Amino acid sequence: MEKAQYAVFGNPIKHSKSPVIHTLFAQQYAQQIEYRATRVELDDFVLMTKRFFDGGGAGLNITVPFKHEAFNIAHRNSERSLLAGAANVLTRADDGLIDGDNTDGIGLIRDLICNLGWAVQGLRVLLIGAGGAARGVLEPLLQERPRELLVVNRTAARAAELVAEFADIGSLEGGAFDVIGSRQFDLIINATSAGLSGAVPELPSSMLTRRSRCYDMVYGAAAAPFMRWAADHDALAVSDGLGMLVEQAAESFYLWRQLRPDTRSVIDHLRESMEAV
Ligand code: ATR
Repeated sequence: MEKAQYAVFGNPIKHSKSPVIHTLFAQQYAQQIEYRATRVELDDFVLMTKRFFDGGGAGLNITVPFKHEAFNIAHRNSERSLLAGAANVLTRADDGLIDGDNTDGIGLIRDLICNLGWAVQGLRVLLIGAGGAARGVLEPLLQERPRELLVVNRTAARAAELVAEFADIGSLEGGAFDVIGSRQFDLIINATSAGLSGAVPELPSSMLTRRSRCYDMVYGAAAAPFMRWAADHDALAVSDGLGMLVEQAAESFYLWRQLRPDTRSVIDHLRESMEAV
């Protein structure tokens, strides 16, 4: 039997861990799949996607910078991708149409709750950033019923816009960094891209208590500045987003194969191979 074809499209894509993750998932269930990482030029996304599915491809993961474009070209979008305004999964359905979905938010929640044991319910939560990454996790975060959810962003207007869009799903506030004032938070999530340039958003360390947990949605070098900042200010616990990456992939795998892979062993494997570098 021919192997089912999957891929991740993005740019850059060289360091993508998705092929390893999906290959390990497939091995758990002896699934015959092939999963590639493909670098797509900025103007070629629509063409490459069409070519992939016309050629019999079964499913795509979509990463930076194409998630919004993926959302636009899907014939149908799930409620999750409609809320996020972005799709990180495209699947060829039985009727031949392309379904868009977004598994980033559920990936974050599963990592926080199932892997790290950081329940969100009843907590004072700060989400830093108001770009695509923040938008993708707002609805699932609100579903966990935090006591407070404050979204802060360097550019205040973007935070205000985001909060207005999600206001009918749950209670949340938004603004510039100075809205934090003397407030303190139990869970602080960095959804900015500041770490990519080695920076940390300019936030008051007084917002941390000794019971605060800090999470960066990216991993590797990009997560290091915020994690260091949190550790230096005595956060109770810090985590990068490696688990979120694996969990969003697991949910994609489930959409494609109707099988739920074990994620713990895959996270451990990736962690070990990152430490060995
Ligand atoms: P993504 O899809 O990764 O969210 P994006 O939509 O470009 O990418 O958003 C990047 C986010 O990181 C924004 O919230 C951005 O703040 P602005 O809206 O003010 O640009 C934030 N960001 C990037 N670099 C930052 C820095 N050095 N300090 C604080 N915030 C930063």
